[in-house]
Amino acid sequence: MADYNKTILVTGGAGYIGTHTVLQLLECGYRVVVVDNLDNSSPVALDRVKSLAGKRAHNLSFHEIDLRDKPALENIFSSTSFDAVIHFAGLKAVGESVEKPLLYFDNNLVGTIILLEVMAAHGCKKLVFSSSATVYGWPKEVPCTEEFPTCAMNPYGRTKLFIEEICRDIYRADSEWKIILLRYFNPVGAHPSGQIGEDPRGIPNNLMPFVQQVAVGRRPALTVFGTDYSTNDGTGVRDYIHVVDLADGHIAALNKLGEPSIGCEVYNLGTGKGTSVLEMVTAFEKSSGKKIPLNIAGRRPGDAEIVYASTEKAERELNWKAKYGIEEMCRDQWNWASQNPHGYGSPDKPLKD
Ligand code: NAD
Ligand code: UFG
Repeated sequence: MADYNKTILVTGGAGYIGTHTVLQLLECGYRVVVVDNLDNSSPVALDRVKSLAGKRAHNLSFHEIDLRDKPALENIFSSTSFDAVIHFAGLKAVGESVEKPLLYFDNNLVGTIILLEVMAAHGCKKLVFSSSATVYGWPKEVPCTEEFPTCAMNPYGRTKLFIEEICRDIYRADSEWKIILLRYFNPVGAHPSGQIGEDPRGIPNNLMPFVQQVAVGRRPALTVFGTDYSTNDGTGVRDYIHVVDLADGHIAALNKLGEPSIGCEVYNLGTGKGTSVLEMVTAFEKSSGKKIPLNIAGRRPGDAEIVYASTEKAERELNWKAKYGIEEMCRDQWNWASQNPHGYGSPDKPLKD
């Protein structure tokens, strides 16, 4: 659906999920302003988005700023009237958050509070926020519904929980706010063009970026964390979701924000299907034709056993459902990795490694 009149601010729009969402917004006819401090991303990613967007590229502008720089954010809101904000910007490495909790509270919480203050001051009270399935902790049962109790397993997860609560409080205090909290399960894959994808700094924390780096020869083997879970093959089970489906979920959320009585609502974005680590590796080997050597290790502290989403609420109320399966996720992950073995950098000049 084309929407030529709406302008969306996307924080963290140069990152993995951000770039895919920005592209989809442009393709739907939105004008998009990205703010990102490039702490975990490259400007090349937005250049690629522009070339993929073709004639719509002129609808994208970018400001390299940190969300905590309130005067800079004020300037952007003073010069442009935004219909809504999609807020991706944040640090997301669980292990780093345990080592540096204050960095996470400062970046994620202070950044969000400043964003909300500036939005309120400029009368922009529509927000889509990137929350996470991490708020379900180690769920007692699956699938996880939005009503499940929440908890924080680490400082990163605590920032997600706190921001969810802050959003509920500001809505309680001022019912003009319309807020959608999206709890992502495990985003993987890349745009089918292979031009944009995930390019993490340093050693990847997450399964698929690690698998991809083994496949292109940057790392010797994947360490499998735990083979003694009570799952079919003993390895952990997650709900992997194609990043393009996830990006679509944001368009659905923006449409929902157009409804008069939305308030502050939470939705899971997942496929509703659980896949084990070994099933994922096998699917990737099939798509890529590459053998992924494995080292079997003990459980990673803090890891849940089985996590997957109930997708009913999003299907019913957002009219959104994931289209892609594991095969497409692995195909597109490999397409991106094989075309960009060093992400947005190059072997001589890696941007981050
Ligand atoms: P990403 O690191 O690729 O993107 C985040 C972007 O935010 C980066 O470009 C980074 O430079 C920017 N950023 C960080 N702090 C900033 C600040 N203070 N000011 C301006 N820009 C800042 O991560 P992603 O995978 O695209 O995740 C996007 C959001 O989704 C994050 O909030 C993350 O916590 C959440 N999330 C991600 C996953 C996942 O597995 N990828 C799962 C659940 C939730
Ligand atoms: N795994 C390995 N080896 C690795 C990396 C991961 O065996 O090198 C296993 C994990 O033990 C787990 C599965 O692969 O069983 C998935 O692990 P990820 O780290 O990719 O994903 P998690 O679900 O554990 O956590 C991630 C983020 C969380 C977020 C959650 C849901 O790190 O912050 O996805 O969005 F909350």
